[in-house]
Amino acid sequence: MYLSKIEVHHYRNYSKEKVTLCDKVNIFIGDNAQGKTNILESIYILALTKSHRVGFENNFLQHGYPSCRIYGLLRDHQSLKELEIQISEEKKKVFLNQKEIRKIASYISQMNVIMFSPTDLDIIKGSPQIRRNLLNIEISQLYPLYVNYLNEYNKILKTRNEYLRQMSINGNTDSRYLEIMNEKLVDRGVQIFLYRKKYLDMINDQISNIYEKIMNKKGLRVVYQNSLDFENDEIEQMKAVFLHKLASNLKREISQGMTLYGPHRDDFFFAIGEENMKYYASQGQQRLAIISFKLSEVSIFQKEKGSSPILLLDDIFSELDISKRNQLIHYIPEDVQTIITTTDLKNIQKKILNRAKVFLVKDGTIQEKVE
Ligand SMILES: Nc1ncnc2c1ncn2[C@@H]1O[C@H](COP(=O)(O)OP(=O)(O)O)[C@@H](O)[C@H]1O
Ligand SMILES: [Mg+2]
Repeated sequence: MYLSKIEVHHYRNYSKEKVTLCDKVNIFIGDNAQGKTNILESIYILALTKSHRVGFENNFLQHGYPSCRIYGLLRDHQSLKELEIQISEEKKKVFLNQKEIRKIASYISQMNVIMFSPTDLDIIKGSPQIRRNLLNIEISQLYPLYVNYLNEYNKILKTRNEYLRQMSINGNTDSRYLEIMNEKLVDRGVQIFLYRKKYLDMINDQISNIYEKIMNKKGLRVVYQNSLDFENDEIEQMKAVFLHKLASNLKREISQGMTLYGPHRDDFFFAIGEENMKYYASQGQQRLAIISFKLSEVSIFQKEKGSSPILLLDDIFSELDISKRNQLIHYIPEDVQTIITTTDLKNIQKKILNRAKVFLVKDGTIQEKVE
């Protein structure tokens, strides 16, 4: 799939801007603070309804305006889809072919993007929440059902935690009510686990090969860390293990007033052989491990969706030395739409530049660069 057009209205530092993209490489070049990341972010939001910049997301509206709009035309095989998101202080609305879509799950599986960002190092260095968030976003793009399981799980989790807190305060226990909640929590929780496991297994089918080609080092893998120690993938047995865990830790859960086991505690780490990269790898190795992860996703998306995702590369060339840069480019299939931002065209190989569409970004305006 590829985005043939993107339009933004009163979005961040853009008043009104419209860009026609090509289906291969698109490069946005400009000095710092001109709006390069903003435009890439707008494409990400159009696809996923939220920003990749955590903690910076409540600032979409151009200063002084009550709402903003992002619109895009997506081509996928024979189909043409109009996507639109309208954001105001109070709410977000999404539209597919001008029809409002109320089920976010069915909207966010329409347009698939993979973002490469300078803040990606947090995927290794940061908190487990960042890694769970990454998994959730990527899996949601592939399987709308996952979004439903996740939403239901989070709802039950919230109610259950409140109930545990009440139990710790007033001491009474309606064990029947708790049992019902446990059944539901375990049911959704096991599904989430299976999706995550499948996803990380698919990553592991690719990641070591890619990393070895770029870094000349074997053995990169991702390791799923789950608080439940399932012994196999048999659903009924997994549920039994999960239920048992809840039952045998009830006292602790009541005293802490929260659910201590389940996918909301999941994590994964990057390892080379047996070594966790967080503690043993250089920053450069970590960066390339994450890039290898994201490159692995390209073929997962192609296989699972029958269509290529759109790659968004935010200023990542400046972080890599020239030889790594070239190897990375070598891994991006030619037929995948790629949207790159950079401050300097020197960062980009001639070979790629020749087949790219280049745009100049300056103070919230975008112009196509013609030679
Ligand atoms: N809500 C907003 N309204 C107006 N300007 C904004 C808003 N949010 C961010 N900006 C401006 O956008 C610019 C940063 O754009 P960005 O895309 O991050 O730059 P870069 O080109 O370096 O990637 C800054 O000048 C910032 O002040
Ligand atoms: Mg930027």
